[in-house]
Amino acid sequence: MIVALTGTPGVGKSTVAKILRQRGYEVESVSELAEKLDCIIGEERGSRIVDINSLADKIEREGFRIIEGHLSHHLNPDIAVVLRCNPKILKKRLSRKGWAEEKILENLEAEITDVILMEAMDVKNIYEIDTSRMGAEEVANAVDRIINGDTDNFTPGKIDWIFDIGDEIGDLIRRFF
Ligand SMILES: Nc1ncnc2c1ncn2[C@@H]1O[C@H](COP(=O)(O)OP(=O)(O)OP(=O)(O)O)[C@@H](O)[C@H]1O
Ligand SMILES: [Mg+2]
Repeated sequence: MIVALTGTPGVGKSTVAKILRQRGYEVESVSELAEKLDCIIGEERGSRIVDINSLADKIEREGFRIIEGHLSHHLNPDIAVVLRCNPKILKKRLSRKGWAEEKILENLEAEITDVILMEAMDVKNIYEIDTSRMGAEEVANAVDRIINGDTDNFTPGKIDWIFDIGDEIGDLIRRFF
């Protein structure tokens, strides 16, 4: 059984994965696995490109493990947990990574437009966690609950960042139309 821990860059996947590993879960990252299974096919803008389809074919599916990374939902997991973050807070988390403004804006746009959630909709069991006002330990607790079947508060579709930043989006629409 594979649980994909996914979400826009900067939402906290690796931080939460580390906590879950400390709690005894078997956790790997997409990039570690891609390296191990020879699925790195190049490099672009300082990031390694993973052949995600080939990785999906090669990964071991016996046992139970969590695979974290913003491509993990493409690995035909049994469960996808999408970490979400309010764009205003995500901006701070991304800035802490020391990324260039353009790369930060690209990722904020992806979070606002639900890119990862939409991509992950192919997964049968899909859940999302709004991490905006949660510490990493709390997020790890939520992932733990989902894995153990306590999924009620995490059904997808309740998060709407466009509504949250409504007035500003309204101004933008008025400028375009
Ligand atoms: N729940 C949280 N609350 C506040 N800050 C957090 C939380 N989770 C992570 N962070 C901080 O946000 C930053 C980004 O976290 P992290 O690197 O784990 O994100 P990521 O989803 O793995 O990103 P990437 O896709 O680029 O690997 C880090 O500085 C981390 O300490
Ligand atoms: Mg990471």
